[in-house]
Amino acid sequence: MSSYTNGGVVVVVDEMEKRERSAGGHLVLLPCPLQGHMNPMLHLANLLHSKGFSITIVHTQFKSPNPSGYPSDINFKSIPDGLSKDQEDDLVSLLLNLNLNCEAPVRDFLLQMQSNRSGQEPFLGIIHDASLYFVSAIADDMKLPRFAFKTNNMTFYVGYLLTTQKGCHPIKDEELEEPVFVLPFLKIKDLPEVKSSDLHIQVGKMVDATRTATAVICNTLKQLEQNALPMFQQDLSIPVFLVGPLHKYSISPPTTATDRSCISWLDTQAPSSVIYISFGSLVTISGSELVEMAWGLANSKKNFLWVVRPSSVHNSQWVELLPKEFEELITNGRGRIVKWVPQQEVLAHPAIGGFWTHSGWNSTLESITEGVPMLCSPRFGDQRINARLVSCVWGVGIQIENDGMERGLIEKSIRRVMVDKEGMEMKRRAMDLKEKIEISLNKGGSSYVASEKLKFFIKNG
Ligand code: UDX
Repeated sequence: MSSYTNGGVVVVVDEMEKRERSAGGHLVLLPCPLQGHMNPMLHLANLLHSKGFSITIVHTQFKSPNPSGYPSDINFKSIPDGLSKDQEDDLVSLLLNLNLNCEAPVRDFLLQMQSNRSGQEPFLGIIHDASLYFVSAIADDMKLPRFAFKTNNMTFYVGYLLTTQKGCHPIKDEELEEPVFVLPFLKIKDLPEVKSSDLHIQVGKMVDATRTATAVICNTLKQLEQNALPMFQQDLSIPVFLVGPLHKYSISPPTTATDRSCISWLDTQAPSSVIYISFGSLVTISGSELVEMAWGLANSKKNFLWVVRPSSVHNSQWVELLPKEFEELITNGRGRIVKWVPQQEVLAHPAIGGFWTHSGWNSTLESITEGVPMLCSPRFGDQRINARLVSCVWGVGIQIENDGMERGLIEKSIRRVMVDKEGMEMKRRAMDLKEKIEISLNKGGSSYVASEKLKFFIKNG
C-alpha cells in the first residue's frame, strides 16, 4: 500500500490498482499558468490518473503548481518560460509570450522524453490548454495525438466565434442591449471583447488549434449548455468530451496563503446564513468599490466571509482603505476578511447561503455543484456570459443591475438572493441543478460516460 494527501484527505492506493495504472500508457499535460486554468487541468490529471494513465505535467516556472496534493507517481516537469513576475497584469501579452517562449523548451523536453522511452509504456498524446496553440506544431511534427482542453465553457467558445466573425471593430453603443441572434439570452454587450488586432490574431490561433486537434475535452456538461452545444459541435466536427465539473474528482491543493481558520468560523454560523464573496484570482477593484462593497455588506445585515487578495485593490496593499466602523463589524463577529480560502470546502459548508462572485467559470461550477445561489458581478472575458447562464438560463442567481458597485444596490441585491422569496426560488433551482450534476457524475451519467469514452478514445484512437 502507498498513500498521498489531497486537501487534508489521505488517499490510499493499493498495489493491484497501481499495476493496472502502469498498464494505461503515458500522457503529457500542459496547463496554462493562471489559477482558473491550472486548477481544472490538475483535476483532469487526477481523473486520468485514476483511470490508469501515467501522467507528466509540463508547466512553466511562472506560477508553478504545488505537487504536494497529488499522487507521487504524477510527474511534474518545469520548463523555462522567460516570463516576468508582473506578467499577469497584461493577459494578452502573457498569452503571446507563453506561446512564443515555451515552444522550444517543450519541444526539446518531449523529443528527449520520447527518445528515452524504449521498452516503456506507449506515449499516447499531449493534452494542452486550448490557449497554448504552439503545441499544435510540435504534435504534428512528432505525429502525436493532441487533445485541446477547454477550461471554460461552450457558450463562451461560440461567443468568441460570433465576435471574431465581426472582426476587431468596436461594438456601437446602440447595439449593446440587442439580443444575440443565435443565443438570445445573451446581449451583444456580453460577448467577449476582441479590441486589438493582436488579440484578434491570438484568438484566431486558439480557435484553429482547437479545430485541428484530435479531440476536445471541455470542463462542462451538456445539461448546462443545451443552447450552445449544437453550434459547438458543428464548428468543431471532431470528437468532443464533456467531462465536467472536474473539481468533483479532487480538491485544489492549498496555497501558502490559504486561510483554513475560516472553516472553524463557518462552523459557528447558522445554516445558509453567510454570504461568501470572492472575485477569483485576477479581478482587481478600485478603493471606492471596496468601500461601497463594505457598506453594502454591512447594511444587508447578513454575516459574510470575504476574500480580498493582497494587491487586488488599486493603490493599496490589502484592506487599509476600509472605514474603521466597518472593521468593528468584523471584531464583533459579523464577518471575516481573508486573503485566500479553500473555496471548494467553503462552498460546500452548510453555513453558506449565497456567493457574490465575479462569475469565473470555475467559481460558477463550484457554486452550482453545491447548490449555492449567486450574486454576479462579471468583469471581463467569459464572465458576462457565465453570469447570463446563471441568471437567465438556470435561474440560480442575479446579476447586479448595470454592474453597479453602489452600496444601496449591493444591499438590495444581497437581500434578493439571501432573504427574499425570489432568493428561496433560486435556492430551490440551485438544489435541482446540484442533483442533475450529481446524476451526471454517477455511473451511467453523461459526464461519467464521457470520461469513460475519453479513456477508450485515448487508448484506442
Ligand atoms: C480566470 C478567468 O477570470 C475566468 O473568468 C475564467 O473562467 C477562468 O480563468 P479566475 O478569475 O481566477 O479565472 O476565476 P475562476 O475561474 O473562478 O477560478 C478561480 C479558482 O480559484 C477557483 O477554482 C476557486 O476555487 C479558486 N479560489 C478562489 C480558491 O481556491 N480560493 C479563493 O480564495 C479564491
